[in-house]
Parts: sequence; structure tokens; C-alpha cells
Amino acid sequence: MLVNGREILAWAVARRCAVASFNTYDLELTRALIAAAEAEQAPIFLAAGAGALEFAGFTLLSAVVLAAAEEATVPVAVHLDHATHPALVERAVAAGFTSVMVDGSALPFAGNVAHLQAARTAVGPWALEGELGGVGGSEDRAGSQHSEVPMTDPDEAAAFAEHTGIDSLAVAIGNAHGVYKGEPRLDLDRLAAIEAVSPVPLVLHGASGIPDGLIAACIERGVRKINVNTELRRAWFEQLAAGLALDGGRYDLPAVFGGAMESVTGTARSFIRLFRDGASGG
Ligand code: G3H
Ligand code: ZN
Repeated sequence: MLVNGREILAWAVARRCAVASFNTYDLELTRALIAAAEAEQAPIFLAAGAGALEFAGFTLLSAVVLAAAEEATVPVAVHLDHATHPALVERAVAAGFTSVMVDGSALPFAGNVAHLQAARTAVGPWALEGELGGVGGSEDRAGSQHSEVPMTDPDEAAAFAEHTGIDSLAVAIGNAHGVYKGEPRLDLDRLAAIEAVSPVPLVLHGASGIPDGLIAACIERGVRKINVNTELRRAWFEQLAAGLALDGGRYDLPAVFGGAMESVTGTARSFIRLFRDGASGG
């Protein structure tokens, strides 16, 4: 069922665990991700980013994710990820999205606050996520990461949340989108300092490639929503390549795509278990 993102955040806060937010680009990934949530009987955020909506076309992808969420047997929030343009936020809310992340992280503090204040009005009763500091790397493809992005300043976090009216705060503590160069190094002391002052639950972007122990340490320090994209695309691409190699000229679309969907479902299930129960289950 389609629910307000606030409800799912409250679920994670009450359980002191984290909810998974999975990015989708199309019908197949959407179905694979909903299947994972249903198999685990867990709520999820089903996220469509600005890049995905541009690729698939807003009308089609939004119809797919909203219909899939409505049909699901578990609570699903349909989330607009990393929006930078107010017009896209308005369009998503009008279409029925129940959660929005407005990414003003490239702006100075005051500009980021102003951006979110305007979004707060546009988003109304639905969940609104802001980001303070920067998360390097690309949201839609693995590759080079910027190492120069600023981390979240704990001294700014409380004022940021209060002035913007956000429901959750995405942190920058060394996390990055895409594939990490070497071992990810997260500033857990900074995270603890942010948690100590933040009036809202924290969000971790760039979870692909972060070891289970570090994920658990983040959950212990107040992270209640964790975004995964790259590892889902990896599962999809790797199984798709294997399926194509085995197809033998049959062009068996349901078999090849179905195999890739199963692989994504398996990967997503592991993340749900890790974030909810503290164990990836293999
Ligand atoms: O907003 C989406 C994410 O932060 C996903 O990051 O591609 O590194 O898993 P990732
Ligand atoms: Zn992100």
C-alpha cells in the first residue's frame, strides 16, 4: 500500500532500525524491489531520482512506481530522490509521491535553507528530506568520486532542521554515491555529534559498498533511512549479462529479465535484513 514517508520513518524510529530506500529506473526494477519488500514483510521507500524520471519519462515511471506501491502488500513510500528543481517537486507531489528529497547541498547554508522552506510548502503533509554537507559521486552511475565535498557540520544541524521543517536529515560523513575507492571511511564521531542535536531522524546516502559493521554503527548512531542504488544496478547488470550469454539466440525476454529481477530481489532482501535486523543473511 502507498503510505506517507513519515509513517515509514516513524516505524524505523520506533524500532531503532533503518528502512531501506531503493532506487528504481523502470518497471522491472520496481517489481523486483517490491517483491523484496513483500518477501521480507518490510516497508520500503521506492525512490525515483531526477535522472531516472528523465530517462524513463516522468509520466510513465511515476505511473509505474505509484501503481506498484498501491498494489504492494507492505507499506511503500514513493520517493522523489535528489530533486534540485522546484518544478519537479511540484510535479511529483501532484502525481502522488509521498516523500521528497530536496538536494540543496551544493548551495550555501542560507540558500539550502531557503530552498527547503519553499519545498516544505510545496510538499505539504508528505515527508521532506534535506541534506547538509555533500555526498560525492554520481547518483546514476558508478565512477569518479569528488573527495572535496564538505561534511555535515554538527553545529549547523539543529538550526538546519528547525528552520526548514524537514522530516529527515541526510548526512555527509564521508559517504559517497557509486563505488568507493578503497575502504569507505565514515566519521562516526561526527555522526554521533549530529545525532545528539538533530530533532529529526538521519539518512545515509551512498550505502553501496559500506561494510555491514559500519552500517550497523551508523544505525546505532541514529541513521533511520539508508539509500541503496549502485549495488542494485550491479546485481541487475551482472545477472543480465549472464542471462544474455546463456540465451543462445532464443531472445527469451521473460527468462533473461526475470533472472535479473530475481538477482535484484535477492540483493534488496539482504539489505532490508541488514538494516532492520542487523544481519545481511548472506
Ligand atoms: O540516493 C541514492 C543513494 O544515495 C544511493 O547511493 O548508489 O552509492 O548506493 P549508492
Ligand atoms: Zn543519494
